[in-house]
Amino acid sequence: MTVQIDHALEEIRRFRPSPEFAANAVADAALYEAAQADRVAFWADQSRDLLHWDKPFTKTLDWTNPPFAKWFEDGELNVAVNCLDRHVEAGNGDRVALHWVGEPGDTRDITYAELTDEVKRAANVLTDLGVGSGDRVAIYLPMIPEAVVSMLAVARIGAIHSVVFGGFSADSLASRIDDAEASLVITADGGYRKGKVFALKPVVDDALTKSVGGSVRNVLVVKRGDNEVEWNAERDLWWHETVATASSEHEAQAFEAEHPLFILYTSGTTGKPKGILHTSGGYLTQAAFTHRNVFDLHPETDVYWCTADVGWITGHSYVVYGPLANGATQVLYEGTPDTPHPGRWWEIVEQYKVSILYTAPTAIRSFMKLGRQIPHAFNLRSLRLLGSVGEPINPEAWIWYRHVIGGGSIPVVDTWWQTETGAIMISALPGVTDLKPGSAQVAVPGISIDILADDGTPVEGEDGGLLVITEPWPSMLRGIWGDPERFKETYWEKFGDKYFAGDGARRDADGDIWLLGRVDDVMNVSGHRLSTAEIESSLVAHPWTAEAAVVGAADETTGQAVVAFVILKASQAAQVTDVAAASEELRRHVAGQIGAIARPRQVFIVNELPKTRSGKIMRRLLRDLAEGREVGDTTTLADTSIMQVISDQVK
Ligand code: WT7
Repeated sequence: MTVQIDHALEEIRRFRPSPEFAANAVADAALYEAAQADRVAFWADQSRDLLHWDKPFTKTLDWTNPPFAKWFEDGELNVAVNCLDRHVEAGNGDRVALHWVGEPGDTRDITYAELTDEVKRAANVLTDLGVGSGDRVAIYLPMIPEAVVSMLAVARIGAIHSVVFGGFSADSLASRIDDAEASLVITADGGYRKGKVFALKPVVDDALTKSVGGSVRNVLVVKRGDNEVEWNAERDLWWHETVATASSEHEAQAFEAEHPLFILYTSGTTGKPKGILHTSGGYLTQAAFTHRNVFDLHPETDVYWCTADVGWITGHSYVVYGPLANGATQVLYEGTPDTPHPGRWWEIVEQYKVSILYTAPTAIRSFMKLGRQIPHAFNLRSLRLLGSVGEPINPEAWIWYRHVIGGGSIPVVDTWWQTETGAIMISALPGVTDLKPGSAQVAVPGISIDILADDGTPVEGEDGGLLVITEPWPSMLRGIWGDPERFKETYWEKFGDKYFAGDGARRDADGDIWLLGRVDDVMNVSGHRLSTAEIESSLVAHPWTAEAAVVGAADETTGQAVVAFVILKASQAAQVTDVAAASEELRRHVAGQIGAIARPRQVFIVNELPKTRSGKIMRRLLRDLAEGREVGDTTTLADTSIMQVISDQVK
């Protein structure tokens, strides 16, 4: 990571938008002027332009009770109608909404009219199952059209979805179901990944035996993997026997702008994931605005593809809500980039003439490693805009993306945001902003960003500081599900009425913002957020473990990688003769408890951990070890010789 940041600091390349691109660009400099003149009025105008309100709002923002914001409070809308019915009513029912590609090679093209019908049918089934406004529905599905249909059907009836990424374990699913008290789980028998079927329904069955809340009444199951599943006739229903046969007549009701839309769990600095709560009108406004302007979307002609899974916020805002609110045509792909061959993504770009591609630096870096001949075996000339998200993109990867994938002249936008922000907050606007590789650049129009020192004073010059958002924004989180205190403590205690993002940042002489990584105990592995505390408590839950410390170590491909240091219980240590097998068992244990994404790259079995006199583990020193660097200042350690002992053991 340090190496990349050093490069970034030296980065001086600039790319001016081409006159042809600028001439047809959706965004223009006037957006900044309008937002500057009156930020709140700017968002009101955007919302009226981009969305259909059944009852127009008259109040734009209520910030009298910070940090609890209300946007467009007295307005009413239906989120699903905004993403579906209104496009059909406007005569665009025949436009393809989803070009779906299954990993084994099966495909489905679904128009806006078809998607609308399917969502109406699913909405009727949910209502029949007793799901009503405000009820929670857990969604645990592969990347199949039914995932999109489920989310929109839940939104249509005013219920609240909690999508759980299909890679999470039964334990993780159970704790999310319990925290939200979900009454329904929507899942599939299985899905395809790396050429094989991975089972989902059995994980749900397992989660429901682990669930302590007993809130789930039904499980709705899509047939996808054709793998064998157990069936509980009182509880389980097949999608193809219920949704497929339900009526496609469904009158949607309008809900208040602040009606909850979804909960999405994300890792924080403690062991317990937080349920980030988003609401309707403000969220959809900013998702649609940024999707249109940051990706220069021309809905009649573009084919857009965001490679994120709907289990993450990127999938919520830039696969489901933003693109569909804007009437976009998009690709939805079920599988991994390298199945059945390493050029699979580029084959899809060629086949569907994808014009806008949005993906993560970790993917770009793994393609870089494989070499340009793989993408260059395909025709990528349809691409006209590239986006990046999830972690800082190093200038080398940015340049490779622009040249090798983009042919050398198309814009690359690096977008900074979070699960909590709901939509993009920092990005260039293509056609307007001069591009600078490695920097996320500038606040989106209508967003106010600052960089502060620890004591809250603004950071002058190019020194690094803490990234804050100084004014409320439409798609901001409205809280942490069931825990208003944690919401205040985590984001608002540090700087009063300013939102503390948890990222370090600096601003260069041009005013461009450079993200410097997390300043808390949150790791970023392949653009996914993981908590050191959560993995440590999983390791400690293993019967062999006495103590554990986890760090995020720089990794060439995944940005960071999970590296764990574990002390075994004395009773165990004597019996463990094969250290490699023991660390493999612990890696497997974490993957089983949390999910494969949390599996440590390495688990080192050690006799000691570096601690201060007050007993605090000095992770900084462990990170030095994990990254193969000389160990830094050890003077505050209770026992300064300990690092030598650990370092000998790690070797
Ligand atoms: C954290 C949020 C937003 C969707 C994906 C991740 C890091 C995200 C960038 C970027 C540098 C970035 C930050 C942030 N991050 N995008 N363009 N440049 N860092 O969402 O799981 O909520 O993680 O990802 O550290 O705080 P998330």
